[in-house]
Amino acid sequence: MEKRVPFFYDITLRDGNQSLKKPWNTNEKEIIFNHLVELGIQGVEVGFAAASEMDFEACSRLAQIAPDNVVISALARCVENDIIKAADSIKAAEKQRVHTFIAMSPFNMEYVLNKSPQEVRKQAIEGVTFARKIMGKKGEVQFSVEHFGDCHENIDFVIDTLKEVVKAGANVINLPNTVERVRPKKFVDLVEKVYNALPKDIIIAVHNHNDLGMATATTVESYFAGAIQLECALNGLGERAGNTNLYEVAIALHNSGVNVPLNLDKIYETALIVSDMSNIKIYEKAALIGPEALAHRSGIHQDGAIKTKDMQKGAYRPIHPSLIGRKDDEKLGFTSQSGKTAIFEIITDAGYPITISEAQRIAPVAKAEAEKIGELSTRNVIDIYFNNVLNVKGAFKLCSLDKTETENALLHFKYNDKEYNVEVYGNGPVDACIKAIQKAGFDCEFLNYEQKALNMGSDASAMTIMHFKAPNGQTIISRGCDESTVMANLKAIFNGLNIMENMK
Ligand code: KIV
Ligand code: ZN
Repeated sequence: MEKRVPFFYDITLRDGNQSLKKPWNTNEKEIIFNHLVELGIQGVEVGFAAASEMDFEACSRLAQIAPDNVVISALARCVENDIIKAADSIKAAEKQRVHTFIAMSPFNMEYVLNKSPQEVRKQAIEGVTFARKIMGKKGEVQFSVEHFGDCHENIDFVIDTLKEVVKAGANVINLPNTVERVRPKKFVDLVEKVYNALPKDIIIAVHNHNDLGMATATTVESYFAGAIQLECALNGLGERAGNTNLYEVAIALHNSGVNVPLNLDKIYETALIVSDMSNIKIYEKAALIGPEALAHRSGIHQDGAIKTKDMQKGAYRPIHPSLIGRKDDEKLGFTSQSGKTAIFEIITDAGYPITISEAQRIAPVAKAEAEKIGELSTRNVIDIYFNNVLNVKGAFKLCSLDKTETENALLHFKYNDKEYNVEVYGNGPVDACIKAIQKAGFDCEFLNYEQKALNMGSDASAMTIMHFKAPNGQTIISRGCDESTVMANLKAIFNGLNIMENMK
């Protein structure tokens, strides 16, 4: 087990909020904040106090209600006014932090800030010195190198500046991948350089945007390269393609043997609430929380998923859904790629009896249907079950079975529209019916017969289950369902005849 405990610093209420089409008001922020506290987050960036009156008010409110063990941080540009506002807005919190930043990539310094590297260094040191002065010894000062991910060419300049910034009073150094442009390893190598260059009591943080979809990987690998503070957002909210998704990082570290100090079972519920409040749907295929994240459609995957369903480790899932508080189980959808396992599970879940061999028999029918219409609904699969198990269409058609005056039985049936009326003596209706069919010249050898009371939500209260020996030697199972036990028997026989006939 990795001994360093990661520090989860949430930026949903700042980076996430600033990217919303309708940023949250104080009350809305408070709802999200309470969920962060329930998740067990250790640090929360509550807003950018100088951005607006509303943000200042929200920062102040959240600082007032914050539990004593949660670090409350407010963002500020590296200018005195912003720093004063930030510090002022969070003064009610027990653990306060001012977070100030300035860009240091050559591109940004030249084209956005229009400043020389020396001017930027001076501003960084002065800003941090000022922040430390107003935060005193007790408060914390976080400094971020905006666009750190673009600092490959001038990393020595950045490191030298950071050493000065640390001397000026910063105790947290944040390294943002403000725009994700290259592969994670390139960024992580830079993080490692900074980690090795700064005193070991300095907290190294990473803040990764997800422009190329690799923010989770970058954050997780940065942790193993020395970063301890991981800046993440709920549902991956944040500018453009968002920030690092908190849930993915937490679970990736958990699965890698790291002690993750969060209440992981709150993840799913939180994700749904954040989606609702941000008006941003959870992508169907989103890792862990997506509606499709537990769905299996290929026959091979469905088979593996069902065989390992009740195990902690599943054949085709990264975690047991309960780890993140997901109550829904792995879902099997029937498409043209699916097979007998899905039929078996869907029908059994719907409360109908079926065996795997019956599921195998009707799977091709379902596949053909799915080829035409795409994924089948549960109702579609149940209809296929009714038409191919309980009411099998084919050449044989039962018309009636009556007692004659001579105490014999008269079976009236059709085979391909040809009518048969056969009189036999039978020991009960099943015996009579089988004998009559054989007397008419058809093979009909049954091996076993059983009857069950049923409660399938319809009038049918009896189910007959019969095993027949098909002409090819195979044993087939047939069922008959009816409110009358005699009719259930006869239906089972005729369903069996049609199943065998359809196999020819
Ligand atoms: O992405 C970024 O660089 C930021 C900084 C303000 C930390 O959000
Ligand atoms: Zn950011």
